[in-house]
Amino acid sequence: MTTAPHSPARPSPAASKTTDPLQLIDVDHVHFYVGNAKQAAYFYAFAFGFQIEQVADLTSGSREQASWLLTQGNIRFLLTSGMTKDHPANKEVMQYGDGVKDVAFTVFDATKAYEKALANGGTSAYEPYTVSDASGSITRAAIKTYGRCIHSFVSRTGAYDLVNIKKGATFAPGFRKVEGLPVNDYNKQNPCGLKYVDHLVGNVEEGKMNHWVAFYESVLEFSMFKHFDDADISTEYSALMSKVMASGNNLIKMPINEPAEGKKKSQIQEYLDWHDNAPGVQHLALRTDDELHSISELRRRGVEFLAIPDTYYKQVWDRVNKMLTESGHTPVKEDHAKVRDLGILVDADDEGYLLQLFTKPLQDRPTLFFEIICRRGSQSFGKGNFKALFEALELEQEKRGNL
Ligand code: FE2
Repeated sequence: MTTAPHSPARPSPAASKTTDPLQLIDVDHVHFYVGNAKQAAYFYAFAFGFQIEQVADLTSGSREQASWLLTQGNIRFLLTSGMTKDHPANKEVMQYGDGVKDVAFTVFDATKAYEKALANGGTSAYEPYTVSDASGSITRAAIKTYGRCIHSFVSRTGAYDLVNIKKGATFAPGFRKVEGLPVNDYNKQNPCGLKYVDHLVGNVEEGKMNHWVAFYESVLEFSMFKHFDDADISTEYSALMSKVMASGNNLIKMPINEPAEGKKKSQIQEYLDWHDNAPGVQHLALRTDDELHSISELRRRGVEFLAIPDTYYKQVWDRVNKMLTESGHTPVKEDHAKVRDLGILVDADDEGYLLQLFTKPLQDRPTLFFEIICRRGSQSFGKGNFKALFEALELEQEKRGNL
């Protein structure tokens, strides 16, 4: 099965309400704690084409913190900096650098979702609270996951319903629209084509992968989607293990990596070393319907990607097209020369193929990065690319003195 180039984004999740309070409707937003939210907003707008849509700061009455809402397709990033010396965001930035604090899920009833997660063995990050005004309400509650990360449950009514948020309604009380920014007009005219969060990967400490797999199974009622061991994901020097957890409706997939024994330092261990030895989100995979267009536009804007050696393209077409032919799928339709010129990776499985590429770290510490992914039937994660990719990563680790 292949997907048309401009097919609708995420297959409509959770069209109807079930009796399960942990039924996830959408990724409400991904919340980052950063050192300077205003500057980070401009970085993600200029480099990745996000709209700087709304802000809650001093100008809108927020005196403790500044939060900027960035949007693209169905992706919502909230970037927050503390404005007082004791603000928790500032303390976490000092400890971990910029990174993901909260992967928030929209649910039908945040209080019920939270209570169910606690009954399943989850630990509270904060208790349910509701903010409301004449236009509607938002109820939030959260549980802890690995490291400093949390999962908020968010339920919305009235003007704050997610359907309205997607059309540009006020994200939450206290936010105001950002008007008249030239970069927003530029991005509308020159879209990067990013549609939604495809998956979100966590790095955890050695020996902890199965603990967190069990957590997602029991607390959030996710199930195992795929699993790879260190024979799949190792090079001569460094290795990791990974298991992919998926929500009930496959709305979100959350692979969990742990370092494995190798001759040199695992990329996961490098992350942990620069993340105060705490687990956290390693990468966000952002989905596009047109990998060539997205990568070409992102490269034009100066986004740095991992460099794949030319030798990769000597073997990739035979490998991928053989797999596609054997499983009855049409070969890769994207222009092979353009794929190579843009340095894009290709992989196939028995359901189709995918195109993917990974950025270099998005901040000075070698921690969080993005993946830009386009799926043409394949629902896996590019296992066939692991070797080439890890060799490319090791070159970068070596440059950083971390191998
Ligand atoms: Fe990924």
